[in-house]
Amino acid sequence: MRILRSTGVIRSVLPLMIVVLTMAANTAHAEDIKIGVILSYSGPFADNGRQIQNGIDLYMKQHGDTVAGKKIVLLKRDDTGPVPDVAKRLAQELVTRDKVNFLAGFVFTPNALAAAEVSAEAKVPMVIMNAATSIITTKSPYIVRVSFTLPQVTVPLAQWAAAHGIKQVYMMTSDYGPGHDAAGAFEKAFTAAGGQIVGKVSMPLMSPDFAAYVQKVADAKPQAVFLFVPAGQQPTALMKTFAEQGLTRSGLKILATGDVTDDAVLQSMGDAALGAITSHHYSYVHDSPENKAFVKAYVAAFKDIRPAFNAVGGYDGMAAIYQALAAVKGDVSDPDKIMAAFKGMTIDSPRGPITIDPATRDVVQTVYIRRVEKVDGEIVNVEFDKVPNVKDPGKAK
Ligand code: PHB
Repeated sequence: MRILRSTGVIRSVLPLMIVVLTMAANTAHAEDIKIGVILSYSGPFADNGRQIQNGIDLYMKQHGDTVAGKKIVLLKRDDTGPVPDVAKRLAQELVTRDKVNFLAGFVFTPNALAAAEVSAEAKVPMVIMNAATSIITTKSPYIVRVSFTLPQVTVPLAQWAAAHGIKQVYMMTSDYGPGHDAAGAFEKAFTAAGGQIVGKVSMPLMSPDFAAYVQKVADAKPQAVFLFVPAGQQPTALMKTFAEQGLTRSGLKILATGDVTDDAVLQSMGDAALGAITSHHYSYVHDSPENKAFVKAYVAAFKDIRPAFNAVGGYDGMAAIYQALAAVKGDVSDPDKIMAAFKGMTIDSPRGPITIDPATRDVVQTVYIRRVEKVDGEIVNVEFDKVPNVKDPGKAK
């Protein structure tokens, strides 16, 4: 009797059970969240791409590959270096064919600008993990940047130099967006503080002949130089040229953005970099428990490689995406809701807390003034001064 009755119950609830089970199955197989990652994985700037990818991978290793019940899938594409046509084609394919929910990565400004058109047209949120020309975030309302901008790190350095007895500077910067931004910001802030620019040169982005430019600096005999070249192989070549031509020994002060004393290559620069004063948002010896944990995990995961600022860009970019996805509960159907989640967001970065300016979608952060020193036999960027809460001055016109 009891058995018959329960069989009857089962029969009557069976259709409902099937519906519930089918729904559960659908949720488990709900569409993955796809992130199209465009980086320079090959070519002369492959190390920058590798650092960003390591940062992304470390974040996912520590936080898992699901957010709000959805699986995160990376679709990695190699732009091979500063080649905007390739970056644009890759972004188009990722958006139209692969239907990615996010674009992310971007070592280079020209590539980010090319992909920005795709982001704006298709309304695809795009997370900039390095590219640092001020204007990038204005090119699509769907762009957010977690890295830095050249004016953001340059203005504090120019002001520091003027306040510390440096009166005459010669500027050497790469002839493309970030170099123009760095030179423009340095000249404006330094001259406003009473300094004088005694010479400047804009060097080709690819394969510049540093010896010829450094000779010009030697002839001009300035008190200091201000340098920006993109991180990668060029900083070592540039710093070694200064040392070889005897300029560093002659007392010339070297000022640069932290790209030039990138932690990834600083050790291999050797003593040529010692004494250089730079400004940046991240040093791998930044003294905080968060950074110590980050460095430990990074070195353990990728063996003997130091995390550099690019790695932090990748790590924080993923943190931003995970936070935004949690805020929209994994529902990626409305890009405006995702962008609303990015705006005003705070991230506990290894560099210290950063926020996303809701008005510009650009990163607001502490900028550190550092000196290259040898500490326990290691050549590192020692932070000794800082300016908190720096917004991109490039947009405060
Ligand atoms: C850029 O192209 O925006 C860029 C590349 C490398 C850097 C900084 C900026 O180190």
